Amino acid sequence: MPELDLPQRQAPDSFMLTGFWYRALPADRVHYSHLEKAMLLEIPLVIGRDRANQPFALRDACPHRGMPLHGGHFDGENLECSYHGWQFDVHNGQCQLIPSLTADQKLRVDRIYAGSYPCEEQDGFIWVYISEPPPAGAGFTKPAEAAEPSPQIEKFSDKYKLAYLTADMPVSVDHGIIGLMDPAHGPFVHQAWWWRSRHSIHEKQKNFEPIPNGFRMSAHTPSSNSAPYKLLRLYAAADSITTTIDFVLPNMRTETIRAGKYWFSSLTTVTPVTRNHCRIEVVAAWNIFRWMPFGPELLKFVFARFVEQDRRTMETQAEGLKYNPHLMLIDDADRPAKWYFQLKAAHLEAKRTGAEMKHPIPGPVTLKWRS
Ligand code: FES
Ligand SMILES: [Fe+2]
Repeated sequence: MPELDLPQRQAPDSFMLTGFWYRALPADRVHYSHLEKAMLLEIPLVIGRDRANQPFALRDACPHRGMPLHGGHFDGENLECSYHGWQFDVHNGQCQLIPSLTADQKLRVDRIYAGSYPCEEQDGFIWVYISEPPPAGAGFTKPAEAAEPSPQIEKFSDKYKLAYLTADMPVSVDHGIIGLMDPAHGPFVHQAWWWRSRHSIHEKQKNFEPIPNGFRMSAHTPSSNSAPYKLLRLYAAADSITTTIDFVLPNMRTETIRAGKYWFSSLTTVTPVTRNHCRIEVVAAWNIFRWMPFGPELLKFVFARFVEQDRRTMETQAEGLKYNPHLMLIDDADRPAKWYFQLKAAHLEAKRTGAEMKHPIPGPVTLKWRS
């Protein structure tokens, strides 16, 4: 492998992978009485809940003449466009009524569909399945079916707490993701007196292995710098703690920490909003601080600090990226970033050829860096 790899500058339409579930909105922001707007992969969506509280997602453009549907009238079942009053079933997008038709005009109304997307509520978020190829916004396309249910956070007991954080990043999903998996920025971006300083940099060695569609930083990493890990050490012996961090296409980082009967799980996603804009969402579930007075607040504070530091960094980075500078990825600190691009390329290649995806990581490998 060459020492310096020029970054693969990807075609704009390959920045955003279709055929996956994406987080659209926090579930507590979507109410029966109000239609919400959202944007995923440059697709404008209208998201709401029906009378039975079931969420739905439609393309926010009427198949007649493109009027945004979020301004229409919703009766809990059908959404009526505000321009000419066409009505659509919110769960499959099927047209129910075209008021201008006279009795002898035989247009088959039920063959017309507004773009409709599989939609599920999971762990505090509304997830939307962006099918491939994306259904046309207008016309006669029936909604696609999702290949699998939306991703879930792994939980290890019945009782647990759940919290989320979200932040907008003015960079492509690729920069959002490689920024998330990058170990070398920690001492420079995430400084705090109660955390660490740049003088605490030391050599680290981590084991990685391939997993379907991604890679895993193997269990048991006693020198981890992760926030919940440090907090967990307050009341569990360091050597009884195991942690696993996975990255899986298109955009998911899961972290699982277990210490006896205590556990902490998080699922962080970086969602492509447009080709130059992504959103990071951290959702965590845990049973560890339930009895500790400031546990959840402390955890949220630590995470919020981290995410805000990353957000500010990427905001500044976006200035530097504006005029398309040359970039590089170095070993070993940027190896996970290289794997991400290789996974993405392998995924697209498999899609193109119809063959099984060729995993770019041949087997277990140890990476070394200073951070
Ligand atoms: S644009 Fe929606 S009904 Fe005409
Ligand atoms: Fe960071």
